[in-house]
Amino acid sequence: MVYQNQRALGTLDPQSYGGVATSSSAQNKIHFPTPLMQSRHRAWSLGLPQNCIVPETSSPLVIAVGGGKGGVGKSMISANLAARFARLGFRVAALDMDCGGSNLHTYFGLTGLNHCLGDFLVHSKCAIRDTLSPTPIEGLHVAASQRDDAWSVADSLSSTGMSQLWSGIQSLGRADHGTKYDVVIIDLGAGSARHTIDLFCTAHLGVIAALPEPTSVENSYLFLRTLLFRLIENTGFHLNMQSEVSRIVANLAGDAHFGAAKSYTEKLRLMYQTDPHVVGSVASVLAGRTIGIVMNQTRSQADIDIGKAMEMAGQRYFGFTSQFLGYLNYDEAAWKSLRNKRLLLVDFPQALIAKRIAELSHSILRSVGASI
Ligand SMILES: Nc1ncnc2c1ncn2[C@@H]1O[C@H](COP(=O)(O)OP(=O)(O)O)[C@@H](O)[C@H]1O
Ligand SMILES: [Mg+2]
Repeated sequence: MVYQNQRALGTLDPQSYGGVATSSSAQNKIHFPTPLMQSRHRAWSLGLPQNCIVPETSSPLVIAVGGGKGGVGKSMISANLAARFARLGFRVAALDMDCGGSNLHTYFGLTGLNHCLGDFLVHSKCAIRDTLSPTPIEGLHVAASQRDDAWSVADSLSSTGMSQLWSGIQSLGRADHGTKYDVVIIDLGAGSARHTIDLFCTAHLGVIAALPEPTSVENSYLFLRTLLFRLIENTGFHLNMQSEVSRIVANLAGDAHFGAAKSYTEKLRLMYQTDPHVVGSVASVLAGRTIGIVMNQTRSQADIDIGKAMEMAGQRYFGFTSQFLGYLNYDEAAWKSLRNKRLLLVDFPQALIAKRIAELSHSILRSVGASI
């Protein structure tokens, strides 16, 4: 992390909410990967999807926003976080990977985009950068996943598309063909489909957006459970220990031989006694993963506390380094701005939720070792 001039981060002033903050100079800012990200590089790269090449040098900061359930605010959070980061002086690419319901661009009031990620992934008509359209926020570009054929992008991601997309994301972090993006935000679709979980695996920071409602909490756990198994499989692939990890996953998924052990962490601890090498590698990949939790549409302290409980469960039950990053209050500014076809941070910069989004962006920077 290089701070040549802390004034470049002057927009961290909590008074300057999303709408009023201005861009800082491109040279004076945090560089990714930060030392913390570098220290987690091995754990992160072992968890990457199986056909994704581990980048040798710098990588843009990749943040994925998922959470298993539709309508919990993934796109609202992705769009406004992307805008916050752009306002802090980062160059940001926001990729809409909700293959069946691409609408991230609508949060910026955009219609009729020239290209979409399907043109890059399915039709090979253009480079990934050509799918990015400017938004009303300086330094922030957005790409839709598809326009008409809802299945094609998801289909491509289950074959060669994932590695193609990953190479594309890495290329966005290089300056050879234009803008060098610092941050890539991936807005995921609902559910725990394989490509959704794999995209979450690419992130340095995966963010789970949840509502304080039983259905959302339940879907978040299902999402984390699928993520756990997928990360273990990916680790086995990268370490060439597929059959060993298949056994681990089968044991974890079943209820075999664990006595009173209830959590996955306890089960892994028991398995460690007989297979320290493989289980130790798996556990370090899980612990090297930061899973952020954002509780959205909160109306009370009890709602906020659910986020804290999910953080504990993520650590104790699953073995992730989970972190409650913050909460966003229920605020009519969210849906009003959408109806106005303007970004919340631009339309209602003084709303309480705009302050919470600013706090969330700082919390995210801290979680990847980029705090001041
Ligand atoms: N904090 C909030 N307060 C009020 N409404 C919200 C809030 N967050 C999201 N919404 C509304 O919830 C709806 C779904 O949000 P969206 O981001 O599209 O969900 P997802 O991408 O998870 O499917 C939108 O109408 C949005 O305006
Ligand atoms: Mg969405």
